[in-house]
Amino acid sequence: MVNIAVLASGRGSNLQAIINAIESGKIKNGQIKIVISDREDAYALKRAKKHNIKAVFIDPKNFPNQQLFEKEILNYLKKEKIDLVLLAGFMRILSPEFVREYPNRIMNIHPSLLPAFGGKGFYGLKVHQAVLDAGVKYTGCTVHFVTEECDKGPIILQEVVKVKDNDTPETLARRVLRYEHKIYPAAVKLFCDKYGD
Ligand code: GRF
Repeated sequence: MVNIAVLASGRGSNLQAIINAIESGKIKNGQIKIVISDREDAYALKRAKKHNIKAVFIDPKNFPNQQLFEKEILNYLKKEKIDLVLLAGFMRILSPEFVREYPNRIMNIHPSLLPAFGGKGFYGLKVHQAVLDAGVKYTGCTVHFVTEECDKGPIILQEVVKVKDNDTPETLARRVLRYEHKIYPAAVKLFCDKYGD
């Protein structure tokens, strides 16, 4: 069984897609042991509780620096014997020290076809605005392993999404999100099929 932790700062719709895939049996050999958020009001925490998953808010303000904040997250991950960490709308860039604790065991979902429109500063609607500004006809989403370089780790799955002439960042984000909800559970399934038993 692969023990999974999800780190999320907001709405948690990708978390929900993964919960659904586990509960419906699409993902076997994987269980979400804990959801951790850096925001008390993250809807992701409510979703976790609804499904009887341990939900923890860690307040960054209680720690003098990023390193100690991350150490607290790591304490929880170790306690829960976590094998796989999923970033699902977690609005912080993890330090190299953190990433080195879980090599090829941290996944992230990004709402573009990486390596395009990725890296520092490309988050949320900014990604989709940049896509529209560039005038590209196709965008999409990417699930990748997290490495020390932001949005540069090995790509696991991608899905292509057509950009429409009348798209706004909001309409594009909504369309891309539907595909995120397909490929994130699919990537987790690949991992669990390979490493879970
Ligand atoms: C998604 O668009 C994801 O690609 C990005 O943050 C957003 C999170 O949405 N990393 P949600 O919290 O999963 O609904």
